[in-house]
Amino acid sequence: MAPAYLATVPALRRVARWAPVALFSSGIVAGDKPVLVRDFVKSALYDPNHGYFSKRSGPVGVLDSAIRFNQLEGRSSYMKHLDKLYKKHDIAWFTPVELFKPWYAHAIAASILRTANLSVPLKIYEIGGGSGTCAKGVLDYMMLNAPPKVYNNMKYISVEISSSLAEKQLETVGEVQSHLSKFTVEHRDATDRTGWGSKNPQPCWVLMLEVLDNLPHDLVYSKDQVSPWMEVWIEKVNGSSQVSEVYKPLQDPLVSRCSEIVSMNEQNPSLREKLSFAAKGIFSKVFPKPRRAWLPTGCLKLLDTLHEALPSMSLIASDFSYLPDVSIPGDRAPLVSSKVTRILLFLTIWCNFFNKAVSGVN
Ligand SMILES: C[S@@+](CC[C@H](N)C(=O)[O-])C[C@H]1O[C@@H](n2cnc3c(N)ncnc32)[C@H](O)[C@@H]1O
Repeated sequence: MAPAYLATVPALRRVARWAPVALFSSGIVAGDKPVLVRDFVKSALYDPNHGYFSKRSGPVGVLDSAIRFNQLEGRSSYMKHLDKLYKKHDIAWFTPVELFKPWYAHAIAASILRTANLSVPLKIYEIGGGSGTCAKGVLDYMMLNAPPKVYNNMKYISVEISSSLAEKQLETVGEVQSHLSKFTVEHRDATDRTGWGSKNPQPCWVLMLEVLDNLPHDLVYSKDQVSPWMEVWIEKVNGSSQVSEVYKPLQDPLVSRCSEIVSMNEQNPSLREKLSFAAKGIFSKVFPKPRRAWLPTGCLKLLDTLHEALPSMSLIASDFSYLPDVSIPGDRAPLVSSKVTRILLFLTIWCNFFNKAVSGVN
């Protein structure tokens, strides 16, 4: 049954279900209007005041010095070393460019140098450069290995949504004075098309390391095996710091397009699929099983924007191909970090909803 407060929102009443939440900072949903899950997630991660990535320290782990791989004997020795590092730094995660510094960034730079057309000045954009480790590694490599003309004329433009990480990048790259004339940081949201100005048809490189999977996702819900998918929206419960989920028919263009791309709504089903759907329909009457699926709408928006703004870009992107220990329900569900307080706070909401305790999140 819908809770009492929904009685005052007749338009939502027919479609709403709710999920009370204990661990919630009411600052994440500003105002009383419902927001799409991706806007809720974006606020939790990137809001300049309370967003996880806006903190001065901690959001992206930085190693004091490079790991000496030649002193480690095989995988188990590496895992032990990693364990020590995590204990020492009290950080939830280090990214590959950090763990394998400087080699990871050097490998990227070597591949750019091998394949770029060096008769035009090299232009590299990095989106979500974190602490600046990749930028510094690439610039170091170019300084030492590229023809001097290439290094001297190159431009490295970082597009970073977090002001504290933008500052950190300048510090990291500034460790080598000569890099600074090649490096600029633009503090903005890379998914926002207006930030890129008019279309630039010149060739350029775009680097995105561990960024695509950090972008906000949307969530869709279906009350059983065959009912249509609904968009999940989040709204504040009147006068409290709790939120509830609200379900609406698919209407957001990005959610609809993304669900088509991941083939959630089969356009021309085969006979076999039609029969299977009919069987599920009968089964769902007896044993209805709600479904949830996460959609990478932030990723789609960024790729759309880049395709439009930089049509001749060469893209280098890396991300996890597999996430261990995912405890959030739903297809393509994101990972909850259990170590850092407030990290991905929004995710605890769905964990609570399913009465799953997330160890260590407080
Ligand atoms: C997981 S960190 C990865 C940092 C770095 N690339 C690395 O591998 O260590 C994600 C980075 O993307 C940035 N970011 C997330 N969304 C962004 C957006 N819409 N525009 C620009 N930067 C963004 C974050 O602030 C952060 O620097």
